[in-house]
Formats: sequence, structure tokens, C-alpha cells
Amino acid sequence: MNPEIFLDNNATTHPLPEVTAAVVAAMSESFGNASSSNRAGERARRQLRDSRESVARLIGAAPDSISFTSGATEANNWVLQRTCQKPGSFLVTTAAEHSSIKNLCDILEIGGTQVESIPVDECGRVSVEQLAEAVSRETTLVSVHWVNNETGTVQPVEEIAAACRERGVLFHTDASQAVGKLPVDVAKLGCDFLSFSAHKFHGPQGVGGLYIRPGVKLPSLMFGGSQENGHRAGTENLPGIAGAGAAATQRLGGIEATIERLQELRNRFESGVLSQISDVFVNGDVKRRICNTTNLRFEGVNGEALVARLDQRGIRCSQSSACTNQRPEPSYVLRAMGLSESQAYSSIRFSVSVLNSDEEIDESIGILAELVAELRRFSKLTAINE
Ligand SMILES: Cc1ncc(COP(=O)(O)O)c(C=O)c1O
Repeated sequence: MNPEIFLDNNATTHPLPEVTAAVVAAMSESFGNASSSNRAGERARRQLRDSRESVARLIGAAPDSISFTSGATEANNWVLQRTCQKPGSFLVTTAAEHSSIKNLCDILEIGGTQVESIPVDECGRVSVEQLAEAVSRETTLVSVHWVNNETGTVQPVEEIAAACRERGVLFHTDASQAVGKLPVDVAKLGCDFLSFSAHKFHGPQGVGGLYIRPGVKLPSLMFGGSQENGHRAGTENLPGIAGAGAAATQRLGGIEATIERLQELRNRFESGVLSQISDVFVNGDVKRRICNTTNLRFEGVNGEALVARLDQRGIRCSQSSACTNQRPEPSYVLRAMGLSESQAYSSIRFSVSVLNSDEEIDESIGILAELVAELRRFSKLTAINE
């Protein structure tokens, strides 16, 4: 029996040993302030440059086009605030964005930005035609996530980027759940901005970044020193960045094999659950889905209770996203896909990583089957007594 089976890897991933070693080294051997002109500063700058190169390679970008941030939330805020803060700006986005976009849109709207949120279909996909119809020369920015954090549904970002280019409109994608889990090539995609987060691919928490297409101007979000080539003020989080670089290097070594392994683990889990437990349904787009995620609806089961019972048995998973699931509300992503409140409440996200084993998957399925049966028995009893 494993003490903890971590199936919540869309929330965060365990740092790899190489990542931890890089973080420690940046706090010891390569310690320094990258803005200092002394030798310690030089050492820190070298570390910063190497990490930037590794991360840039992972997404097919030029190193100078990457600015490190405190994570994808900051990167998303940076793009949306700096492009769409002027009253009269026009932002086109979707109903299934992460809260770091969705909640910001509410604030921007109060300030006079026009926000058009395109609905998603029952699989969580946005229609390129519908989105393109909403985009005109007056549009300031289009922002669409690449992969949904709750369902794993992959959005048609290449077609959206092409539609934006045709109309001369800036395109941003929040690729937090894509980078490290599918091949990313910013040049091929043709986006203007791309946000990513290191802790989604076994890097440290509190570090991520923003790709800005060379030639595109984006004013800074924070003011102060001239760090990050003048793009982001504040002493760089060198240990975090070193960890992000190490995580990117690990991912670069055989991304295809990583994707295959993640898919194998996810499929083993999903098919095991579907064959051993009745009345379970997959939410999202099973054909166009990221390799590591399954969002399952357990008919007649209180999802919150199931997550809590699984947690007691050492299995970590979530309802909706980590940034929203402290709130007792049904997932707005699942609701946007047309699920009823009770269907959303009975849905749970499981997301695997390369650190999971086949044995963990099989053990989880067994425990899940036991707990679902128990909760269904309990709800039948409650219904009889009411
Ligand atoms: C799609 C998406 N966007 C943004 C974020 C926020 O990333 P960070 O934790 O780096 O701020 C997350 C994290 O859950 C995410 O899944």
C-alpha cells in the first residue's frame, strides 16, 4: 500500500530530483544577484542564461523572447492588463479559461474593456468559426487557453492563431497545461504571447514565464529595475528559474516517450474505472485531449465526499481546478459545457505524471470502486429514510 498516490498533477507536479538539485545549487554554488557587476553576479547571470535557453528550447522560442515571471497567473495578467486595460479595448476569450483569466476579465470589464466570452461545446471546445466571427480589426486581443486544466480538452489554437493573423489581431494562449505535455513550437503556432508554468512539468512552484513574439511590444507589468531585459522589474527568482530550466531539460529528453507513457497511465486508469464501476462518464473531448488527464462523472455520487474519502485513503485528486476548488461551487468549466449542477458536483479530475506507476493506478481503481459503491449505498439509504 502506497502512503500517497498523487493523481492531481494538473494542480502541481512533484519536482524531479534534478530540479531539486538545481534549486539547491542556485542557492549555493551559483548563488548571486544577476544584476550585480561582481563575480557572483556573473555566476548568477550564467545560470539565468542557461535556464532561459533550456525553457526556450522546450517551446521552440529564441531565448530573448522569454521573460521569467512568478508563474502563469502573472504572465496572463501581464498580457491582458497591458493590452486591454484602456477603456474601449476589446478582448475576445472563452467561457472555459482558468480563473487567472476569467476573474481578470471581470475586473477589466468594470474598467470599460469590452469582453466577449465565446461559449464552448459539450466537449469543452471552442468553435473557430464562432470565434473568428467575433474578431474584427477593432479587437485588441484574443486569449484562448491551449489545454483545459479541468478536462484536458485541447483547443484548436493553430486555427485560432491563423484567424487572428489574418485579421491583424494579437493572439495570446495560456499554455500552462500544454508545455511539457505536448510538443510546443511557438513559431509554428504563430502566437504573439504564450504563458507557461514550471510546476506543471515537474519544476518548482512560483515560477513560470511569458513568451513574447520578437517585434511585439508589451509594456512591463511591474516597474523598478531593468531585470529580464527591461521587461520585468525585480530580482529574478534564481533558484526557481534554475529549477524551471532543469525541468525543461528533463522534458526535452524524449518528450514523445513521456507523452506515450502519460497516455498509457491515463488510459489504464480510465479504462479500469469504466470497466469496474457502472454509470461513470468521461467529461471533455476524448479525441482531442491532453495525454495525462481524465475528468470523470460518477452518477449519483457526491464528488466532494468522494474526493475527501479518496484523500483519507491516500489518493490525491480534485474537483475542478486547484485555484477554485476551495469554493463550494460547481465547476464553471463543466457548467459551460452544459453539465447540470449536480452532474458537475459528481465529477472529479484525475491527472497522472511520469512519477506514477502501473501499480498505483491499479490500486487507485480498486479503492475508487470500493468508495463509489459505499457512497452510492449511503445515498440510497438516505433517500429511503427521507
Ligand atoms: C490553465 C492554467 N492557467 C494558469 C494557471 C496558473 O498557474 P500558476 O500556478 O503558475 O500561477 C494554471 C494552474 O493551475 C492553469 O492550469
